[in-house]
Amino acid sequence: MDLEQLNQRIAEIETQLSAALPKATSVDALRSLESGILGKKGSLGSLLGNIRDYPANQRGQVGQLANQAKGRIKERIEKRLGELRSADVAAERRTAESYDPTLPGVGRAMGSVHPVTAVQWEVERLFERLGFTVEAGPEMESEHNNFEALNIPASHPARDMQDTFFLENGMVLRTHTSPVQHRSMIKFGAPLRVIAPGRCFRYETLDASHENTFHQIEGLMIDENISLANLIALAQMLLCEVMQRDVKLRVRPGYFPFVEPGIEIDMNCEICGGSGCPTCKNSGWVEILPAGMVHPRVLKAGNIDTNKYTGFAFGLGLTRLAMMKFAIRDIRVLNSGDLRPIVSPMRLGGPIIAGEGMR
Ligand code: FA5
Repeated sequence: MDLEQLNQRIAEIETQLSAALPKATSVDALRSLESGILGKKGSLGSLLGNIRDYPANQRGQVGQLANQAKGRIKERIEKRLGELRSADVAAERRTAESYDPTLPGVGRAMGSVHPVTAVQWEVERLFERLGFTVEAGPEMESEHNNFEALNIPASHPARDMQDTFFLENGMVLRTHTSPVQHRSMIKFGAPLRVIAPGRCFRYETLDASHENTFHQIEGLMIDENISLANLIALAQMLLCEVMQRDVKLRVRPGYFPFVEPGIEIDMNCEICGGSGCPTCKNSGWVEILPAGMVHPRVLKAGNIDTNKYTGFAFGLGLTRLAMMKFAIRDIRVLNSGDLRPIVSPMRLGGPIIAGEGMR
């Protein structure tokens, strides 16, 4: 390339720069534009690298032309850099000026409590009004508390009624909340009114109404002159209040070694209205509240004077009650992660219950 061609090439490069500069709107873009021209392999940089190819008498002039062009280009790039930096500063200032630290934060949509927890709290509130204490027992229990203290010795066939997870440390995952009966008798003595909500575990085959992990609420009332009539009246009140309707009850005999007599209180199925569906095993009734008068052996194991006191106990199927209340057809969804398809927050009491979740 002779001197004239070199001049033309430099002019072209500067024209291209004029077009590219306004489009470089960030420091990074500007730096890459600069290296595309002035870098070793850049359009001007490579011309400077070729100076030795010119005859010795022209090299000084070529060098001068190219260096002057380099100076002009650098200057224009620096000027543009200055413009970009001051635009950044102005934008930062605008953001800072428009930021008001006293404004309330951005609200987040809150979820709601789990359906089982919602019903648990409702039942707790009801029983607290009736003077009951809310107790919690451990999920890992001794065999003694889960079985023997409840009149279920090791050889008793009733042990087969509850398929148990035995742990390597000799304990069991409690199969029901009934061990809290024994714990409460030892802890408080008589007279006594407690409920004990909690998780229970059974080695069960899963279906629409059986889970391996589910919730019960144990109820225990010990005093003078307690009878089954008190228990049935309480069950009626409890279920009507939770379901917000006139619940029909069916009371039938039931066998549990820790009560005598034992009864099963069933409620008419909310899902099918009593006509029969998989949830109620086509019977129209749902087993919800097995109960009975506390067996004298259980009272004695809890150091209660059986000459003076009698008591009733029940084991409310809390998970099943939540299913009835919210018309949930399959128990398995309750332990799954996503309840949105089945229960809207409004049905759970919306923000009120969500708020209580923070207590
Ligand atoms: C008991 O667990 C007794 N401890 C209840 C009791 C307490 C009787 C005090 C007398 C006095 P049962 O095994 O039937 O009983 O369970 C009680 C309730 O828990 C059932 O009615 C049912 O609603 C619920 N339940 C039992 N097994 C499951 C399961 N696998 N999945 C979901 N709910 C269950």
